[in-house]
Amino acid sequence: TRVEWDLVTAEKAGFDHFMLKEIYEQPKAYRDTMRGRIGEDGKSVLLKELQMSDEYVKSIRKVQIVACGTAYHAGLVGKTVIESLVRIPVENDVASEYRYRSPIITPDTLVIVVSQSGETADTLAALREAQRNGARVLAITNVVGSSVAREADDVLVTWAGPEIAVASTKAYTSQLIAFYLLGLHMTRVLGTQETSQEEEMITALQQLPEQVEEILQQAAVLKQVAESIAHHRSLFFIGRGVDYAVAQEGSLKLKEISYIHSEAYAAGELKHGTLALIEDDVPVIALVTQEALYEKTLSNIKEVKARGAHVLSIVNSGFELEAAKSVDEVFAIPKTLPLLTPALAVVPLQLLSYYASLALGHDVDKPRNLAKSVTVE
Ligand code: G6P
Repeated sequence: TRVEWDLVTAEKAGFDHFMLKEIYEQPKAYRDTMRGRIGEDGKSVLLKELQMSDEYVKSIRKVQIVACGTAYHAGLVGKTVIESLVRIPVENDVASEYRYRSPIITPDTLVIVVSQSGETADTLAALREAQRNGARVLAITNVVGSSVAREADDVLVTWAGPEIAVASTKAYTSQLIAFYLLGLHMTRVLGTQETSQEEEMITALQQLPEQVEEILQQAAVLKQVAESIAHHRSLFFIGRGVDYAVAQEGSLKLKEISYIHSEAYAAGELKHGTLALIEDDVPVIALVTQEALYEKTLSNIKEVKARGAHVLSIVNSGFELEAAKSVDEVFAIPKTLPLLTPALAVVPLQLLSYYASLALGHDVDKPRNLAKSVTVE
């Protein structure tokens, strides 16, 4: 009816699709997720909502992060964040696999479930399995009264606001912010980092919203690139470390809404098989944000270039000229700390998927065969 149509148009607030609106809401989602969780001095993280005691945090020997889809990809970044800040080993599981692999869950295991909706059946089942085995469960979720939120022992809410588009964007990036805050909280309790390093990270975190805005201002460039990749049958995303985690999310995003086949590969692993699929003109999107790994990833880029690939690389600002020598196109993200680059590098990938889907005339917000929330196993 006319009334419903007007309502949906109003909800899109001038954007053509919910997905685009949600991509543009990310600076606000980052700020809202950080609000009240950083001390007034801007130097410490305070997660007052957590019930877990400092004593408990000191007893954690292992972390398992369990989730589905995009939330699983946020967990991959979460692993690196927790391991590098806190030095506690972290395992990642997709929720549908977790219960059936007899995971080793002990009372000193912290299980973190990540779920935008808080209603995903597999994730909820994993939560229950963890609790049955005596583990404490912390939920990172976007929905306050959701099943996952109600059943978890601790809840860290992402304040991304309602996410309507099936392809998750602002929920994913807010989950990253939640992991950064949690990592910093655990670091403070355990004293695993120098205070100056903690403060440096908190300062950098607070700069992210503005840096996302800078990226959004360059959307037109990404629209052009998207239009040029849209007619390809297959493409690849490569990266190392957290860049590989972001590559996996970028690849999922593209598949979900453009239906173009793509694969994400750890850059160094390409030569063990996938390189056979690289031929003339195949697009490769290379994430190169980890300074310590620049040279290594550049040499992987050379491997694909030598086979005729067309390479777009996402790099840190300041590295554009150097990168331009080895690739076809360069997109620079503002400079931040190595652990925080996922919160910026994923944004151009979200826009690429959006514009590729648009160019192909697909239903961006409601891709075929997919549901926003899957409440059956
Ligand atoms: C569905 C959605 C995905 C989402 C996944 C997990 O498959 O289409 O976008 O990542 O569920 O959802 P959750 O609400 O648990 O984060």
